[in-house]
Amino acid sequence: MTITSSTMDQALPRHVGIIMDGNGRWAERQGKPRVWGHKKGVDAVRRAVSFCRRLNIPSLTLFAFSSENWRRPEDEVSSLMELFMFVLQKEIKLLHKNQVRLNIIGDLSRFSTKLQAKIAEAEALTAGNTGLTLNVAANYGGRWDIAQAAQQLATQVAAGTLRAEDINEQLLASHIQMHDQPELDLMIRTGGDIRISNFLLWQAAYAELLFIDTLWPDFDDQVFADAIASFVSRERRFGCTGAQIRELAAATGQG
Ligand code: IPE
Ligand code: IPE
Ligand code: MG
Repeated sequence: MTITSSTMDQALPRHVGIIMDGNGRWAERQGKPRVWGHKKGVDAVRRAVSFCRRLNIPSLTLFAFSSENWRRPEDEVSSLMELFMFVLQKEIKLLHKNQVRLNIIGDLSRFSTKLQAKIAEAEALTAGNTGLTLNVAANYGGRWDIAQAAQQLATQVAAGTLRAEDINEQLLASHIQMHDQPELDLMIRTGGDIRISNFLLWQAAYAELLFIDTLWPDFDDQVFADAIASFVSRERRFGCTGAQIRELAAATGQG
Protein backbone atom coordinates (compact mmCIF):
# COMPACT_ATOMS: atom_id res chain seq x y z
CA MET A 1 0.00 0.00 0.00
CA THR A 2 1.33 3.42 -0.97
CA ILE A 3 0.65 6.02 1.65
CA THR A 4 0.13 9.63 0.65
CA SER A 5 -1.69 12.43 2.43
CA SER A 6 -4.51 12.38 -0.12
CA THR A 7 -5.39 8.75 0.62
CA MET A 8 -6.07 9.51 4.24
CA ASP A 9 -8.09 12.78 4.26
CA GLN A 10 -7.57 15.73 6.53
CA ALA A 11 -8.19 13.87 9.76
CA LEU A 12 -4.53 12.91 9.95
CA PRO A 13 -2.78 13.63 13.24
CA ARG A 14 -0.79 16.86 13.22
CA HIS A 15 1.47 15.83 16.07
CA VAL A 16 2.52 12.26 16.83
CA GLY A 17 4.53 11.27 19.90
CA ILE A 18 6.25 7.90 20.14
CA ILE A 19 7.65 6.03 23.13
CA MET A 20 10.21 3.98 21.23
CA ASP A 21 10.35 0.97 23.52
CA GLY A 22 11.60 -2.57 23.07
CA ASN A 23 15.14 -2.18 21.70
CA GLY A 24 16.72 -4.21 24.48
CA ARG A 25 14.30 -7.13 24.19
CA TRP A 26 14.63 -7.11 20.40
CA ALA A 27 18.39 -7.59 20.74
CA GLU A 28 18.18 -10.10 23.58
CA ARG A 29 15.82 -12.27 21.51
CA GLN A 30 18.59 -12.59 18.95
CA GLY A 31 21.22 -13.29 21.56
CA LYS A 32 22.84 -9.90 20.96
CA PRO A 33 23.80 -7.17 23.45
CA ARG A 34 21.12 -4.57 24.22
CA VAL A 35 23.07 -1.81 22.48
CA TRP A 36 22.62 -3.68 19.20
CA GLY A 37 18.89 -3.07 19.59
CA HIS A 38 19.48 0.65 20.15
CA LYS A 39 21.55 0.79 16.97
CA LYS A 40 18.84 -0.96 14.97
CA GLY A 41 16.35 1.43 16.56
CA VAL A 42 18.03 4.26 14.67
CA ASP A 43 16.89 2.72 11.36
CA ALA A 44 13.33 2.75 12.68
CA VAL A 45 13.73 6.42 13.60
CA ARG A 46 14.83 7.18 10.04
CA ARG A 47 11.78 5.35 8.67
CA ALA A 48 9.38 7.16 11.02
CA VAL A 49 10.81 10.58 10.11
CA SER A 50 10.54 9.83 6.40
CA PHE A 51 6.96 8.57 6.88
CA CYS A 52 5.93 11.82 8.59
CA ARG A 53 7.56 13.88 5.84
CA ARG A 54 5.63 11.97 3.16
CA LEU A 55 2.34 12.41 5.01
CA ASN A 56 3.04 16.06 5.75
CA ILE A 57 2.60 15.55 9.47
CA PRO A 58 3.97 18.78 10.98
CA SER A 59 5.33 17.46 14.31
CA LEU A 60 6.88 14.21 15.49
CA THR A 61 8.15 13.77 19.04
CA LEU A 62 10.35 10.78 19.84
CA PHE A 63 11.18 9.64 23.38
CA ALA A 64 14.88 8.77 23.15
CA PHE A 65 16.06 8.91 26.76
CA SER A 66 13.97 9.48 29.86
CA SER A 67 15.02 11.23 33.05
CA GLU A 68 14.74 7.78 34.66
CA ASN A 69 17.01 6.04 32.12
CA TRP A 70 20.11 7.22 34.04
CA ARG A 71 19.28 4.36 36.41
CA ARG A 72 20.46 1.85 33.79
CA PRO A 73 23.88 0.18 33.95
CA GLU A 74 26.64 2.68 33.32
CA ASP A 75 27.83 1.01 30.12
CA GLU A 76 24.36 1.10 28.58
CA VAL A 77 24.00 4.80 29.45
CA SER A 78 27.37 5.67 27.96
CA SER A 79 26.65 3.61 24.83
CA LEU A 80 23.40 5.50 24.41
CA MET A 81 25.18 8.84 24.79
CA GLU A 82 27.79 7.85 22.20
CA LEU A 83 25.09 6.67 19.84
CA PHE A 84 23.18 9.89 20.28
CA MET A 85 26.29 11.92 19.46
CA PHE A 86 27.16 9.73 16.48
CA VAL A 87 23.65 9.81 14.99
CA LEU A 88 23.38 13.55 15.49
CA GLN A 89 26.59 14.13 13.54
CA LYS A 90 25.80 11.59 10.85
CA GLU A 91 22.17 12.43 10.16
CA ILE A 92 21.97 16.19 10.55
CA LYS A 93 22.89 17.06 6.97
CA LEU A 94 20.26 14.74 5.53
CA LEU A 95 17.64 16.01 7.97
CA HIS A 96 18.48 19.54 6.91
CA LYS A 97 18.25 18.63 3.24
CA ASN A 98 14.82 17.13 3.88
CA GLN A 99 13.57 20.36 5.48
CA VAL A 100 13.43 18.86 8.99
CA ARG A 101 13.74 21.21 11.96
CA LEU A 102 15.40 19.47 14.89
CA ASN A 103 14.33 20.41 18.40
CA ILE A 104 15.70 18.62 21.45
CA ILE A 105 13.48 18.75 24.52
CA GLY A 106 14.56 17.85 28.04
CA ASP A 107 16.98 18.96 30.71
CA LEU A 108 20.14 19.18 28.63
CA SER A 109 22.29 20.42 31.49
CA ARG A 110 23.14 16.85 32.48
CA PHE A 111 24.74 16.08 29.11
CA SER A 112 28.43 16.61 28.35
CA THR A 113 29.33 20.09 27.13
CA LYS A 114 30.42 18.52 23.85
CA LEU A 115 27.01 16.94 23.30
CA GLN A 116 25.26 20.15 24.34
CA ALA A 117 27.30 22.06 21.77
CA LYS A 118 26.47 19.55 19.02
CA ILE A 119 22.79 19.81 19.88
CA ALA A 120 22.88 23.62 19.74
CA GLU A 121 24.70 23.48 16.40
CA ALA A 122 22.21 21.03 14.89
CA GLU A 123 19.25 23.04 16.12
CA ALA A 124 20.71 26.28 14.74
CA LEU A 125 21.43 24.71 11.35
CA THR A 126 17.87 23.45 10.92
CA ALA A 127 16.02 26.27 12.72
CA GLY A 128 14.56 27.75 9.52
CA ASN A 129 13.22 24.47 8.11
CA THR A 130 9.48 24.17 7.69
CA GLY A 131 8.96 20.56 6.54
CA LEU A 132 8.70 18.63 9.80
CA THR A 133 9.58 19.53 13.36
CA LEU A 134 11.33 16.55 14.85
CA ASN A 135 11.38 16.83 18.62
CA VAL A 136 13.73 14.42 20.32
CA ALA A 137 13.07 14.00 24.04
CA ALA A 138 16.39 13.45 25.80
CA ASN A 139 16.73 13.45 29.57
CA TYR A 140 13.08 14.36 29.34
CA GLY A 141 10.37 13.76 31.89
CA GLY A 142 6.79 14.99 31.77
CA ARG A 143 7.03 16.04 35.41
CA TRP A 144 10.23 17.96 34.71
CA ASP A 145 8.41 19.75 31.87
CA ILE A 146 5.58 20.91 34.14
CA ALA A 147 8.04 21.86 36.90
CA GLN A 148 10.20 23.96 34.58
CA ALA A 149 7.09 25.80 33.33
CA ALA A 150 6.04 26.46 36.94
CA GLN A 151 9.53 27.72 37.71
CA GLN A 152 9.39 30.21 34.82
CA LEU A 153 6.10 31.60 36.11
CA ALA A 154 7.37 31.71 39.70
CA THR A 155 10.38 33.71 38.53
CA GLN A 156 8.06 36.26 36.94
CA VAL A 157 5.95 36.47 40.11
CA ALA A 158 9.09 36.98 42.19
CA ALA A 159 10.23 39.73 39.82
CA GLY A 160 6.87 41.44 40.16
CA THR A 161 5.99 41.12 36.45
CA LEU A 162 3.19 38.57 37.00
CA ARG A 163 0.47 38.29 39.62
CA ALA A 164 -0.07 34.82 41.07
CA GLU A 165 -3.83 35.17 40.57
CA ASP A 166 -3.27 35.63 36.81
CA ILE A 167 -1.78 32.15 36.45
CA ASN A 168 -4.16 29.88 34.58
CA GLU A 169 -3.98 26.79 32.36
CA GLN A 170 -3.36 28.79 29.24
CA LEU A 171 -0.46 30.69 30.74
CA LEU A 172 1.16 27.57 32.15
CA ALA A 173 0.65 25.83 28.78
CA SER A 174 2.56 28.63 27.08
CA HIS A 175 5.68 27.58 29.02
CA ILE A 176 5.38 23.83 28.44
CA GLN A 177 7.72 22.33 25.80
CA MET A 178 6.41 22.49 22.21
CA HIS A 179 3.69 25.03 23.06
CA ASP A 180 4.33 26.59 19.65
CA GLN A 181 3.50 23.35 17.81
CA PRO A 182 0.19 21.60 17.09
CA GLU A 183 -1.33 19.82 20.10
CA LEU A 184 -0.32 16.21 20.55
CA ASP A 185 -2.92 14.15 18.66
CA LEU A 186 -1.58 10.63 18.87
CA MET A 187 0.76 8.95 21.34
CA ILE A 188 2.11 5.55 20.35
CA ARG A 189 4.06 3.21 22.60
CA THR A 190 5.79 0.22 21.06
CA GLY A 191 7.09 -2.78 23.01
CA GLY A 192 3.86 -4.05 24.56
CA ASP A 193 3.78 -2.18 27.87
CA ILE A 194 0.73 -0.09 28.71
CA ARG A 195 2.14 2.92 30.53
CA ILE A 196 3.33 6.44 29.78
CA SER A 197 6.65 6.26 31.70
CA ASN A 198 6.73 10.03 32.37
CA PHE A 199 6.56 11.01 28.67
CA LEU A 200 4.37 13.96 27.60
CA LEU A 201 2.06 14.26 30.62
CA TRP A 202 0.60 17.73 30.08
CA GLN A 203 0.43 17.34 26.30
CA ALA A 204 -1.26 13.93 26.47
CA ALA A 205 -4.40 15.31 28.15
CA TYR A 206 -6.52 14.75 25.04
CA ALA A 207 -4.21 12.72 22.82
CA GLU A 208 -5.34 9.37 21.45
CA LEU A 209 -3.23 6.63 23.01
CA LEU A 210 -2.10 3.56 21.14
CA PHE A 211 -0.12 0.70 22.66
CA ILE A 212 1.30 -1.84 20.26
CA ASP A 213 3.33 -5.01 20.73
CA THR A 214 5.80 -4.34 17.90
CA LEU A 215 9.30 -3.82 19.28
CA TRP A 216 10.77 -0.49 18.20
CA PRO A 217 13.43 -1.85 15.75
CA ASP A 218 10.58 -3.57 13.85
CA PHE A 219 8.51 -0.38 13.53
CA ASP A 220 8.05 0.21 9.80
CA ASP A 221 5.77 2.07 7.37
CA GLN A 222 3.07 -0.58 7.57
CA VAL A 223 2.95 -0.48 11.37
CA PHE A 224 2.92 3.33 11.30
CA ALA A 225 0.17 3.33 8.66
CA ASP A 226 -1.90 0.95 10.80
CA ALA A 227 -1.43 3.30 13.77
CA ILE A 228 -2.60 6.25 11.68
CA ALA A 229 -5.58 4.23 10.45
CA SER A 230 -6.52 3.46 14.06
CA PHE A 231 -6.29 7.16 14.89
CA VAL A 232 -8.39 8.18 11.88
CA SER A 233 -11.13 5.67 12.79
CA ARG A 234 -11.62 7.07 16.30
CA GLU A 235 -14.21 9.62 17.28
CA ARG A 236 -12.63 12.35 19.39
CA ARG A 237 -15.27 14.02 21.50
CA PHE A 238 -13.33 16.46 23.70
CA GLY A 239 -16.04 16.32 26.35
CA CYS A 240 -18.93 16.76 23.89
CA THR A 241 -21.48 14.13 22.93
CA GLY A 242 -21.07 12.00 19.82
CA ALA A 243 -24.13 13.70 18.29
CA GLN A 244 -22.56 17.13 18.74
CA ILE A 245 -19.36 15.99 17.07
CA ARG A 246 -21.20 14.48 14.10
CA GLU A 247 -23.26 17.65 13.71
CA LEU A 248 -20.09 19.73 13.68
CA ALA A 249 -18.47 17.41 11.14
CA ALA A 250 -21.54 17.65 8.87
CA ALA A 251 -21.55 21.46 9.15
CA THR A 252 -17.87 21.73 8.22
CA GLY A 253 -18.16 19.10 5.49
CA GLN A 254 -15.83 16.63 7.19
CA GLY A 255 -16.29 13.04 8.24
C1 IPE B 1 13.84 1.83 24.54
O1 IPE B 1 14.17 0.49 24.53
C2 IPE B 1 15.04 2.71 24.35
C3 IPE B 1 15.46 3.44 25.56
C4 IPE B 1 14.82 3.47 26.69
C5 IPE B 1 16.68 4.19 25.45
P1 IPE B 1 14.57 -0.26 25.85
O2 IPE B 1 16.05 -0.18 26.01
O3 IPE B 1 13.80 0.22 27.01
O4 IPE B 1 14.16 -1.75 25.49
P2 IPE B 1 13.49 -2.81 26.45
O5 IPE B 1 12.23 -2.19 26.97
O6 IPE B 1 14.47 -3.11 27.53
O7 IPE B 1 13.21 -3.97 25.55
C1 IPE C 1 10.56 4.74 28.16
O1 IPE C 1 11.00 3.42 28.08
C2 IPE C 1 11.65 5.67 27.76
C3 IPE C 1 12.06 5.62 26.36
C4 IPE C 1 11.53 4.92 25.42
C5 IPE C 1 13.15 6.49 26.02
P1 IPE C 1 11.55 2.64 29.34
O2 IPE C 1 11.93 1.29 28.86
O3 IPE C 1 12.59 3.43 30.03
O4 IPE C 1 10.25 2.58 30.26
P2 IPE C 1 9.96 1.71 31.56
O5 IPE C 1 11.10 1.89 32.49
O6 IPE C 1 9.84 0.29 31.12
O7 IPE C 1 8.67 2.23 32.09
MG1 MG D 1 12.01 -0.35 27.82
